[in-house]
Amino acid sequence: MVAVDGPAGAGKSTVARQLADQLGFLYLDTGAMYRALSYKALRRGVDLRDEAALAELLADTVVELYPASEGRVRVILDGQDVTDSLRSPEINASVAVVAGFASVRTEMVARQRELARHGGVVMDGRDIGTFVLPHADVKFYLTASLDARAERRYRELVKMGFDVGLDRIRDEIQHRDMLDSSRPYAPLSMAPDAVPIDTTDLEVEEVMAQMLEICRRRLS
Ligand code: DC
Repeated sequence: MVAVDGPAGAGKSTVARQLADQLGFLYLDTGAMYRALSYKALRRGVDLRDEAALAELLADTVVELYPASEGRVRVILDGQDVTDSLRSPEINASVAVVAGFASVRTEMVARQRELARHGGVVMDGRDIGTFVLPHADVKFYLTASLDARAERRYRELVKMGFDVGLDRIRDEIQHRDMLDSSRPYAPLSMAPDAVPIDTTDLEVEEVMAQMLEICRRRLS
């Protein structure tokens, strides 16, 4: 089992996906699970500050993650493919609130552990090495400067056709970092036994090379 944690825009999903592909493991994007719940809550008009309502909604929600071409993941929410709807600015702005509630996290973590039960997974998120899979064979903690992370998210959103400003993205990421790091329950933090990688000035290939080498050593 490989855990990949770090703040928004550090490049986790790109490298976790490729790493899973190279190792022949399953890639599990835990952020997508929180995003899917946020999507459903927004669609249903559920108050995002209402923890009990969100927990109830989650109890009645099935989120499935399926491998797709090029190492991508398709997210199926209650039988419907919502993959292309989960990275909108609206969800970016609300998901950290949803992910902040203990009762939501407890249920999500139980589901994530179940998905990883048979091993052979690369799981990316915020609390994987510290909380979800504390016994993972390899743990990585990816970081990058706020500017680099904002730039990456900006390019991603523009490519998807959203009309957004870089400054706003930077503010949103900073706000999300703050929410993710300061929540009382399983906040974003680096596991003491994680390998830190600062991706600010690295190409994806360089990050991948470092990670693969460490995985091959530790997983053999
Ligand atoms: O990685 P991402 O941007 O798709 O994550 C979306 C949000 O979900 C982000 O605000 C942090 C939260 N999250 C979390 O709290 N724990 C996880 N394991 C994964 C994501």
